[in-house]
Amino acid sequence: MKKGLLAVLVASIGFAGVSVAAEKAGAVNGADLLEKRCATCHPSAKVKGAKKSLAQWETTVTTMMSRGAKLNAAEKKALVEYLSKTYKP
Ligand code: HEC
Repeated sequence: MKKGLLAVLVASIGFAGVSVAAEKAGAVNGADLLEKRCATCHPSAKVKGAKKSLAQWETTVTTMMSRGAKLNAAEKKALVEYLSKTYKP
């Protein structure tokens, strides 16, 4: 009985660790976020064709989030930084 409970506890801690690691990996990779979260409504080429400053990308990403793009705060920050470094005027 006790052993079984311990096994469940260890297993659930293990799962939590995996999902936190996955979220962190996703948050730091702007290129990956662009392909996965921004290419669902229009091709990512639409994004890559644009040239914007950091403030403009921030506005664009905020607009896209209101349209339905799924990003948490850390992912948004990582993506805006990536876009402003890669696709600048
Ligand atoms: C829920 C659907 C949806 C998602 C997800 C989405 N967009 Fe858009 N996006 C649109 C629509 C609708 C337009 C306007 C119509 C068009 O130009 O195709 C647009 C247009 C754009 C444009 C061109 C217009 C402009 O403001 O410069 C850019 C750049 C852009 N999106 C970037 C992004 C980025 C970056 C992401 C990821 C964070 C993203 N989009 C995710 C729907 C979406």
